[in-house]
Amino acid sequence: MAGKIQKVAVLGAGTMGHGVAQVCAMAGMGVWMRDLTDDVLARGVTGIERSLAKLAEKGKITDAERDAARARIQTTTDLKGAVAEVDLVVEAIPEKMELKLETFAALGEHAPKHAILGTNTSSLSVTEIAGASGDPGRVVGLHFFNPVPLMKLLEIVRGLSTRDESVEAARAFAETIGKEPIVVKDFPGFATSRLGVILGVEAIRMLESGVASAEDIDKAMELGYRHPMGPLKLGDLVGLDVRLAILEHLHKELGEQFRPPALLRQMVRAGKLGRKSGEGFYKYG
Ligand code: CAA
Repeated sequence: MAGKIQKVAVLGAGTMGHGVAQVCAMAGMGVWMRDLTDDVLARGVTGIERSLAKLAEKGKITDAERDAARARIQTTTDLKGAVAEVDLVVEAIPEKMELKLETFAALGEHAPKHAILGTNTSSLSVTEIAGASGDPGRVVGLHFFNPVPLMKLLEIVRGLSTRDESVEAARAFAETIGKEPIVVKDFPGFATSRLGVILGVEAIRMLESGVASAEDIDKAMELGYRHPMGPLKLGDLVGLDVRLAILEHLHKELGEQFRPPALLRQMVRAGKLGRKSGEGFYKYG
């Protein structure tokens, strides 16, 4: 059984990875953030610094806490070095099963035997990913939500072979970083993505068939159902390429209701990926 988690490696410095690195550092953990290139790491660090600055400006953390959290994060391109001495690994690399399997095979080899291995996958099989690690009992889904520093939920996914003690360690980790956990069974789309994506995909179909404008579809859910942002704005925040990848997977696993709309495919082909590319259902400055 893992003791208290003090050192963490986060694999992937993208939106989710750098958010996870930030919340771990804010909770006092030492963090290695690993990605393939120094450029991607630098962008991740900029994202963390911006977010920490916002929190400090608003008085949610002190300037000393901001600086201490930043100082706890180190970056590297070396996977072996990043995971060598940690108690927890959080994988937040792209949603491609081949990449996840390769990564978890490497973690099985290089991470300490006591370390919990977490995957931030939003819909892929945790059981399948865990199988590559050599010890699937220590693998759990740790599904975070964007923007990670603000969203309260941590969805913990129990794979078929996940040990109880790994789930308990994940719960304790959630508490330490100030998140509220739910524990769900490994099933395509878990509890969150399955419901979130179905709303998003219906909104795109409504736009395709001219039911209303993007603005009015979003306003319907914001003002009529009190969602903090409508489903099309949320798609832009998450990234339309990410949405499409989840839909393709859920379509294969769960059937017709998740078939990706032609409009979404076209937008991704055109490079309209949402906020990160400057345009999605909306334009960003
Ligand atoms: N770090 C620190 N502060 C941040 C921040 C960040 N990364 N992002 C936003 N903020 C701050 C803003 O500065 C702002 O502060 P003030 O109110 O003091 O000005 C505050 O948060 C609110 O932001 P905004 O005014 O810009 O907008 P908002 O009130 O709509 O809140 C939001 C933004 C928190 C994102 C809110 O709209 C929201 O909760 N949206 C839904 C998000 C959601 O559903 N996420 C899940 C996506 S699915 C996913 O991630 C999983 C998956 O598998 C794909």
